[in-house]
Amino acid sequence: MHALIFGLLVVLALPLLICGLVIYTWRVRRIVIPQNISGTAHEPFGGRLAMHVAGTYKDEVAYKIAQHTPGYGGIVRFLFWDTLGFCAKLSGFKGSFFAYPGPRPSTLMTMMSHRAYFFNQSIQDVLTREDNPATQLVVLGAGFDTRCYNLPEGKDFKCFEVDMSPTLKAKKRALQLAEVPHNHVTFVETDFNQETWMESLLNSGFNPNLTTYVLWEGVTMYLVEEAVRDTLNLIASLPVGSVVGADFFSQDLIQGNPPLGKISKSMHTGMKY
Ligand SMILES: C[S@@+](CC[C@H](N)C(=O)[O-])C[C@H]1O[C@@H](n2cnc3c(N)ncnc32)[C@H](O)[C@@H]1O
Repeated sequence: MHALIFGLLVVLALPLLICGLVIYTWRVRRIVIPQNISGTAHEPFGGRLAMHVAGTYKDEVAYKIAQHTPGYGGIVRFLFWDTLGFCAKLSGFKGSFFAYPGPRPSTLMTMMSHRAYFFNQSIQDVLTREDNPATQLVVLGAGFDTRCYNLPEGKDFKCFEVDMSPTLKAKKRALQLAEVPHNHVTFVETDFNQETWMESLLNSGFNPNLTTYVLWEGVTMYLVEEAVRDTLNLIASLPVGSVVGADFFSQDLIQGNPPLGKISKSMHTGMKY
């Protein structure tokens, strides 16, 4: 019943949603990509926004900064995300896409929420455990991630967000315009395929002797294998108790081995787009 009402509301709201989607796509192609801002960073960001507007996972910072990002900013947030959230809330529909932590078993539709849930739990555990908690949080390939702004209360953490320059600049601008406090975060510009991010981190005040949580969410699939191995080797040099949270695609999915041939093909097409 919830799904039916949601479907009906979406049909009624279709003109708004389509306008939002068209403007968003235009901006990604004409503004985001030409300025070398990560287009793919908008996908997990969108997943968090979907859960936020549906009220299943509150991420106020993601919602605030969205208003000032080149992709989701201004009218797009209203036309697309607010409208979608209104339909989800009014109908009570959560489905696979809006739910948090999302129904099991895992599917591609629940990928974002299950992934977010897994990392949220893992960060919370490692930052708040009694024995040797992590005091530094490094977000590699940070994109529009908001973990550094949703930290456990009562403790000071040193945070580092590492990404390529254009994406970091767009994020810093959004944080400033949205008036989100970010003095505890150091932004480190690097290219994992070209240089050692650890050196850039060390030059930015990172302390390699402190127990650290390294979040590497949604990034390995965009890097060459050597860069992934080098990064893991560097992380292994951090003190005992440090943790890396990372995800990866299976080789079968990338190569399209049975039974994943069809889904692999559509994912390749999606990526290219
Ligand atoms: C899919 S986004 C994930 C963003 C964020 N971790 C999240 O989950 O919301 C991938 C991020 O990795 C960054 N990235 C990809 N290749 C990179 C590279 N070679 N060096 C630095 N950052 C890179 C992109 O700029 C982008 O922000």
